[in-house]
Amino acid sequence: MFKMFSFLHAKNKPLPIFESLGTDMHCHLVPGVDDGSNSAELSISCLKQLSALGFKQLYITPHFQYPRFNNDEADIQDRYAVLKQQAEQAGVNIALQGVAGEYRIDDRFAQRVADRRFLRIAGKYVLVELSLHQPRMGTAEAIYGLQETGCEVIMAHPERYPYLSLNSAIFEQLKNQDVFFQVNILSLTGFYGERARRIGYGLIERGWVEFLGTDTHNDVYIHMLTRASHDRKLQKLLDKCEFMNCKL
Ligand SMILES: [Fe+2]
Repeated sequence: MFKMFSFLHAKNKPLPIFESLGTDMHCHLVPGVDDGSNSAELSISCLKQLSALGFKQLYITPHFQYPRFNNDEADIQDRYAVLKQQAEQAGVNIALQGVAGEYRIDDRFAQRVADRRFLRIAGKYVLVELSLHQPRMGTAEAIYGLQETGCEVIMAHPERYPYLSLNSAIFEQLKNQDVFFQVNILSLTGFYGERARRIGYGLIERGWVEFLGTDTHNDVYIHMLTRASHDRKLQKLLDKCEFMNCKL
């Protein structure tokens, strides 16, 4: 009995298995701007725990999605600057490398491309996402338009779109047009269901996944990432880390 409790307890302790990745490039920790963290205290607590899981640096990527999260770049940058200062004062041991966005390909996307209005990861990568409910005509063209402005495009969590199967022609099309794929770490543990887990690993096995991200919104994600740090299959994947996170 005691052995079982100590085993459960051990699983609640973070292992620094993400050291090999180094950088988290997808999370929602600018407080109060989307469905992510709702306070500076929560953001700082999440940052400390991401550090304990081995991350050395990160980019924060709030949602830009009309009309649900009608965020403004200047406002996001101001709020990020405040958080960065608070994190430094709180002694957070993880470098905040910058604020970017997770841009939904929606009705306002074409205008955004025309205006070249994107916050980028490491100065060149734009993280985009699709609807979680239905496919959208013209997705490949919209991404091509963005690429033509000189950006590299990363597709957020391709494994999570319920209308895209592993053998979807859309995945092949996106890879043919040099779109990077970012799989959510928690997809690989079943957090979003068995389907997302299977497709996530399937895409990795094909060599189609360049980035992993935590997509942290709050402490529930941190709790699940802590449990994930004990996942043998994930540990093995990260041991032979072939992702581009470490180059950011
Ligand atoms: Fe996200």
